[in-house]
Amino acid sequence: MSRIQRLIRDMTLAEKLGQLTMTAAGYAVTGPVIAGDSTDGIKSGAIGNLLNLVGADHVHEMQRLAIEQSRLGIPLLVGLDVIHGHRTLFPIPLAEAGTFDPRLWELTASEAAAEAAADGLAMTFAPMLDVSRDPRWGRSAEGAGEDPWLGMQMAAAKVRGFQGASLAAPHTLAAVAKHFCGYGPVNAGREYASVDISERTLREVHLPPFEAAVAAGVVAVMPAFTDLAGIPLTAHVDLLRGWLRGRLGFDGVIISDYNAIAELIRHGVAADLTEAAVLALKAGVDIDMMSNAYRSGLPIALEHGLVSLADIDAAVHRVLALKENLGLFENPYGRGARAESAATLTRRRQLAREAGARAIVLMKNEADCLPLRADPARIAVIGPLADAPGEMRGPWWAAGVAAGHVSVLEGLRTALPHTDIVHAQGTDILGTDTGGIQAAVDLCDAADAIVLCVGEAAAMSGEAASRAHLDLPGQQRLLAQSVIERAHARGRHVIVVLFSGRPLILPWLFEEADAVLAAWFLGCEAGHAIADVVTGRVSPSGRTPVSWARALGQVPVFFGERPTGRPADPKDHFTSKYLDVPNDPLFAFGHGLTYGRFTLSNLRVSPPRVRESDDIQIKVDVLNEGAREAEETVFLFTRDRLASVARPLLELMGFAKITLRPRAQGTVTLNLAAAQLKFLGLNLQPVFEPGEVEILVGPCADRSRLLVHCIELMR
Ligand code: BGC
Repeated sequence: MSRIQRLIRDMTLAEKLGQLTMTAAGYAVTGPVIAGDSTDGIKSGAIGNLLNLVGADHVHEMQRLAIEQSRLGIPLLVGLDVIHGHRTLFPIPLAEAGTFDPRLWELTASEAAAEAAADGLAMTFAPMLDVSRDPRWGRSAEGAGEDPWLGMQMAAAKVRGFQGASLAAPHTLAAVAKHFCGYGPVNAGREYASVDISERTLREVHLPPFEAAVAAGVVAVMPAFTDLAGIPLTAHVDLLRGWLRGRLGFDGVIISDYNAIAELIRHGVAADLTEAAVLALKAGVDIDMMSNAYRSGLPIALEHGLVSLADIDAAVHRVLALKENLGLFENPYGRGARAESAATLTRRRQLAREAGARAIVLMKNEADCLPLRADPARIAVIGPLADAPGEMRGPWWAAGVAAGHVSVLEGLRTALPHTDIVHAQGTDILGTDTGGIQAAVDLCDAADAIVLCVGEAAAMSGEAASRAHLDLPGQQRLLAQSVIERAHARGRHVIVVLFSGRPLILPWLFEEADAVLAAWFLGCEAGHAIADVVTGRVSPSGRTPVSWARALGQVPVFFGERPTGRPADPKDHFTSKYLDVPNDPLFAFGHGLTYGRFTLSNLRVSPPRVRESDDIQIKVDVLNEGAREAEETVFLFTRDRLASVARPLLELMGFAKITLRPRAQGTVTLNLAAAQLKFLGLNLQPVFEPGEVEILVGPCADRSRLLVHCIELMR
């Protein structure tokens, strides 16, 4: 008999339900506060898992209670939302997606895991794999953006990074793929709202990243808060038991979202906690996070025969197996046994700086005003986000404290010690006070360059942060326009550093500013990373992983749309278009300038005719005609023009990077397995249909900038 079988044999019902319960320890940003009843619960076996407890000492203290004072000595599983770093914060996931660098995605996850594990943690509620095409939804910040294939690549890299080669190693974390699934298309971008999408969109867009996470070995999955066509995911038998466990063979732990089981009552599918618990357990949810539904409801349900002991035991088995895989039985104090060295922390911050610089997207650079000319005499750094270290964290800062984050002001002062750097906030991020604007505008007169730092506050994206207006909040538009007007009157350039957890809708800003850097939220080294790009120490290479709309009415605007029977035609009234705005986004997916100037030519694709088992090789020449070394990102798309089911106008199938010195030329090679050209046919089963397929290669998803070559698919 295995250890787990023995334990299950010896456990009381209350102890079993304790293993299926996760409660918050009440971690506050200033330090952990242990919730009053956790201690007794852990000792009695009524609490088997904790969230929001940080610090090796605190975790070990609780762990000791479980190991030494509970009857069976089962170790606790302790988790936290380590979304983009633990104490050392890296760029938010949306920003990091824009590096198009799987090696970096994996590395930051493994560093975050090591740091969190050194703090005693064993689980992170990450990565978030929800595809988001609606910038109103604040959680866009937590994911990889609009494209499912990109989402798949990032999912796999993050799972590998968090979980490492062996989950038993003390520097790893159990990853939780969330939120399963289809949380991104909430109605009108409103947080927690209902979702109703087609089965095809679910399968083609929203499920693939989860499939990739499972294939990469993710050990836990969290269902979304939302419902899908009336069935809350927490109770979704078809998707949890059928698709995830049945079809994908996922045998890990399913952990509910925060209070999500209890919320089945408000969803209107359960009358009380008992019914809610029954629905969730039947659907395959193992751990109840914060609802207290399993502990209070399952004993009653069992008595009435609504669930079986076998259902409960199976869930307990999965939880204990995860604890075993994490090495918690053998070595319950392994995570957090050793503090990390100062050298490790320094190296990690360096990685945060590199990741930050690589995530910045140079959206506009008129007259090549960036990078700054060497050693300007005076720079005015203006705006409410210029000297805002805490804001650099972005949403979900785990254990990252506000202090110690590098602001833009600090970054520029460090990078340019001989430059007189003056600063005025001008206005608050959110407030209505315009009293400081004049003083900020006056700084423009004697400055050689103006760096204007505007955008959202960190808390305006992430969970429960939907916005119906995606302009600059507060009085920042007035500040920006006043500064730009004065600067231009004096013949000076304005470089905007734009902070946001989503693509904002700012056509006026992109029109009026001379240069714009999308800085998202870059984490602890934000100011240094921004200074690196502004001064030219680093040549920008980030590409936007989401389309930027011109107007809110275009939302959702994304490159993977399907064709219409009436494509937009300015000469034909009855075609698919707006009367007041073009159809295309202001910036396409993949947009991002560099300090080089790249041209692509000579697209070669071989072989010309392929079967399903073939590999396709795609080559394109890249020339840097600019005056600086830079890194170019080349995207590979396909377009199946004629199929049994209308295919998207573009489908992302790959990307590659090349760094070239001025006037240097190189060749980028992309490989595509022909099997990737399969799609879900009329009956939603994968098919490989013969016919022509376009292979498109270029710098972004703007079709007019892509080189095209046709191949033929054969049976
Ligand atoms: C969020 C999850 C998160 C959980 C625990 C919930 O509100 O939706 O993403 O993991 O809280 O903090």
